[in-house]
Amino acid sequence: MNQRVVATINRKALLHNFAVAKTHAHGSKLVAVIKANAYGHGLLPVAETLQDADLFGVTDLAEAEILRAGGTDKDILILQGIIDRNEIARCARQGFQLVIHSPDQLHWLEAALDNISLPKPLVFWLKLDTGMHRLGIAPTDCNTICSKLLAKPWTKNVVLMTHLANASEPQSPLNAMQLQQFHTCINSHDKPPLAASIAASAALLALDCKSNWVRPGLMLYGSSPFVWRDIQRRREAFNLQAVMTLQARLIAIKDIAAGSSVGYNSQFISTTPMRIGIVSIGYADGYPSNTPNGAPVMVSGTRTITVGRVSMDMLAIDLTHIPQALVGDAVTLWGDEISLDEVAAHTGILSYNLTCSISARVAREYI
Ligand SMILES: Cc1ncc(COP(=O)(O)O)c(C=O)c1O
Repeated sequence: MNQRVVATINRKALLHNFAVAKTHAHGSKLVAVIKANAYGHGLLPVAETLQDADLFGVTDLAEAEILRAGGTDKDILILQGIIDRNEIARCARQGFQLVIHSPDQLHWLEAALDNISLPKPLVFWLKLDTGMHRLGIAPTDCNTICSKLLAKPWTKNVVLMTHLANASEPQSPLNAMQLQQFHTCINSHDKPPLAASIAASAALLALDCKSNWVRPGLMLYGSSPFVWRDIQRRREAFNLQAVMTLQARLIAIKDIAAGSSVGYNSQFISTTPMRIGIVSIGYADGYPSNTPNGAPVMVSGTRTITVGRVSMDMLAIDLTHIPQALVGDAVTLWGDEISLDEVAAHTGILSYNLTCSISARVAREYI
């Protein structure tokens, strides 16, 4: 390890987690959700690794085009749908599958596609708002919009989808309410049965909601979508492996007397003499600035904790019980031994957010 900060991405672990997701999918097709630069893991290398996915899910046209330009020939679903109606013809010509989440979008599609010819008809994912109240059409509009879409020569097929707000809290009554709304909608449709999609990682791992397509993201990267205090649902319980290992270097070591403060605003004050290590990672690399004292890290095979406020390019750790640690040693912020989910619990920042926030200046290495 030569660089100041390195995120090492383990392709074998990614493939392993993909296989775990396939097992839970029980034969359903799988959308590998690789949006947001594959949750910070790198869009193209992750796509290249997950060649057995049935479809890739990205955020927007820009990500879809990066994937295509990078050589992906697999089908691509744009999960946020159309942002600007001027994008529609460009999406359609490239055969991208689009989420439709509002009645207006049907009118935009008609205006853009009714008078052009396309190489191939398109697959649309009609998103129903069954209770999350984020994106999606009202279930009462489902039959009308679906029938109109299916009647278009530019439509090949429609998949009905919904997203669960509380799947990471399996006992939440909203899960059952959303599932019931969705199934009522599917069953009331008078056209031939349409494919359906409900589950992202949490529902795939903990709820009984089989459908034709599943859409895992987080679990592919080795994180559990459930709260850290739920020991039965940590990543080990699902046999998930860490994909990203984030490491920096020890760049200074110093002894401090009892009563000394460490870093900005004296966020940490020692009560005993201590040995402090300064580590070459800060919030400009994506390590959260609001981390309280005590976040777990690993040096020389030994766990220890952060002390003091995270600076832009550095943070401090307690080396008092690790006398063998030397300047130049690698410090692991998360990975196999330090779970990303534990860091998330300590910092109050979601695992999703932690990996997505790793900044562009951090080298990604793929093994
Ligand atoms: C519509 C949709 N499907 C699937 C996913 C993947 O979710 P997760 O990463 O929790 O598996 C997301 C993530 O935000 C999403 O918005």
